[in-house]
Amino acid sequence: MLVSATEMLQKAVAGHYAVGAFNINNLEWTKSILATAQELESPVILGVSEGAGKYMTGFTTVTAMVKAMVDAMGITVPVALHLDHGTYDGCYKCIKAGFSSIMFDGSHYPIEENVEKTKELVKIAHAMGLSIEAEVGAIGGEEDGVVGMGECADPAECKRIADLGIDFLAAGIGNIHGKYPANWQGLSFETLAAIKAQTGDMPLVLHGGTGIPADQIKKAIDLGVAKINVNTECQLYFADATRKYIEEGKDQQGKGYDPRKLLAPGAEGIKTIVKEKIELFGSVGKA
Ligand code: 13P
Repeated sequence: MLVSATEMLQKAVAGHYAVGAFNINNLEWTKSILATAQELESPVILGVSEGAGKYMTGFTTVTAMVKAMVDAMGITVPVALHLDHGTYDGCYKCIKAGFSSIMFDGSHYPIEENVEKTKELVKIAHAMGLSIEAEVGAIGGEEDGVVGMGECADPAECKRIADLGIDFLAAGIGNIHGKYPANWQGLSFETLAAIKAQTGDMPLVLHGGTGIPADQIKKAIDLGVAKINVNTECQLYFADATRKYIEEGKDQQGKGYDPRKLLAPGAEGIKTIVKEKIELFGSVGKA
């Protein structure tokens, strides 16, 4: 069964840990993440970008696959199926498709428009039993072709959006999607503390989890971050393991070209990094 992310994130805030939100792209990704969360007895959030949803032939396919896999694999830890960086239309599609959580990313709109659209979506998401994440201050880097500037959110604007009844808030604190450049300044804990002071117990979301040093992750959790998104690092681990398999010529030994064999090292790679992240975020045994 899929659950909304509200309860797991409120528990995370109270318990001073964070729940990992890992993006899925296909069956292998989903299976690796679910198996690892179950092994570690950790709640987990499966993030689906609009691009990944389209790749998997639509949100309805994604819901059907995830629900069936949760059942077939005997997954008992809380699993939320969450739209990542959703557009206004994308949110409606995911509500209809049976997701248990959505993110409306209105950060590129003027604040008044972000407020109006978020308010409307909060109403419908809650009426349907879904949790909803909103965003203030675009996250830098590239996500499905949307490029942000890595800004720091205005704490007063964060309060305005938080007060709309959303369940968790993504706010830019210098984080960016993808690999961090060598000259990255690190997270702005000053901004994070100011946002926390304005938003109280609202679970805060840290996007761009790939490559943030462990000490900064821990400090962010101390300051109220309860959901951490990781995408690129799973892709890198998958690609590295797959490349190694092919470079070692294993695809040409016996039936090494069988997709179930060819994709196995990459799937193991995803499990390795997801395990590392869940341990770092402190959600082991919190299911
Ligand atoms: P990374 O790709 O940098 O891990 O970011 C993931 C993310 O924030 C998804 O919303």
